Amino acid sequence: MAFKHRAIIDTIPSYKQGKPAPTVEGHKSFKISSNENPFQPLPSVVKAIESLSLSRINRYPDMRGWQVVERLAALHDVKPEQIVLGCGSTEVITQLVQLVAGPGDEVIYPWRSFEAYPIIVATAGAESIQIPNRPDGSHDIDGIIAAINDRTRLIILNNPNNPTATALTVDEARRVMEAAPSDVLVLMDEAYIQFNTSADTAVGMDLFRQYPNVVVAQTFSKAYGLAGLRIGYAVAPEDVVDGMRKVALPFAVTDLAQKAALASLDVQEELDARVKQLLAERDRVVVALREQGWEFPQPYANFFWLPLQERTDEVAAAFVGYGLSVRVFSGEGIRISIGEPEANDGVIEVMSHFTPAK
Ligand SMILES: Cc1ncc(COP(=O)(O)O)c(C=O)c1O
Repeated sequence: MAFKHRAIIDTIPSYKQGKPAPTVEGHKSFKISSNENPFQPLPSVVKAIESLSLSRINRYPDMRGWQVVERLAALHDVKPEQIVLGCGSTEVITQLVQLVAGPGDEVIYPWRSFEAYPIIVATAGAESIQIPNRPDGSHDIDGIIAAINDRTRLIILNNPNNPTATALTVDEARRVMEAAPSDVLVLMDEAYIQFNTSADTAVGMDLFRQYPNVVVAQTFSKAYGLAGLRIGYAVAPEDVVDGMRKVALPFAVTDLAQKAALASLDVQEELDARVKQLLAERDRVVVALREQGWEFPQPYANFFWLPLQERTDEVAAAFVGYGLSVRVFSGEGIRISIGEPEANDGVIEVMSHFTPAK
């Protein structure tokens, strides 16, 4: 950039959004690159949004989002003062990093993981300490613990991890909690918690009740299917919530998003049924690909990870040719979201044209 600016900005990678579905003649195209929910919003949620008087859009939203905060507090059995909303959980994580880390400070997290982490940390002026995942895509707990030092200001655990879809066990999370100094916060990023069927998974809210330094981030974007409206939240100690609110983007969560979140919390059972359908589709795809001979981590999210390494680009091109946009990490692998059954059929079909390496 020709204008005076912070040097750190030149080192920050731009966030790469999942590509839109490609148009390919003879194929119906699908976007399965962004871990979105393929279901359209439930009718009751649409109705709630529609009922919001358009004559109110000259007014700012309730900045604290009290109605949603109170509902979430009841849901999680915490005080409303322990909940903070954000424009997606991306903003909530940003608030937390802004609160605790600046120049000279370190934030530890697994890598690969959610690609917003390095951007958020660098923007705060802090340093990312990325701990490479184990070969099976799971967090390297020993590596995370070994990286803790006097400069550590935050440890992020992503359960299930984006993009590898692996789950963190109770034991692994406890080990991190026991190793982390009690004045260093540990963030449990649980954007995909509703899809986590791992029997011995760590649960952020259980940890929150056991340790004083846990923050849990969740979102309405994935299981609730409200990605386009942008609303997420954190459960955190009261003083952390107060701090996060100071650095939050004012009025970032619209009335529309708040209304849709409330309406979604009213129809939890219908949403759970949709999650179940997606899990059944996930299992179907996993079984089919394993039958083809592919080896990949057991997924515990609404997506899965194919560690194709040097074959990644070749396979990725085949997906595009079939009208499917997937998330490609060149040289590492492909992350594929569970989409409409037809999209999932396409995934199975594309992969059947390749032979797994022995
Ligand atoms: C691990 C993880 N955390 C957080 C988010 C943030 O989602 P949102 O900002 O839509 O709530 C995502 C989105 O892809 C994610 O993958």
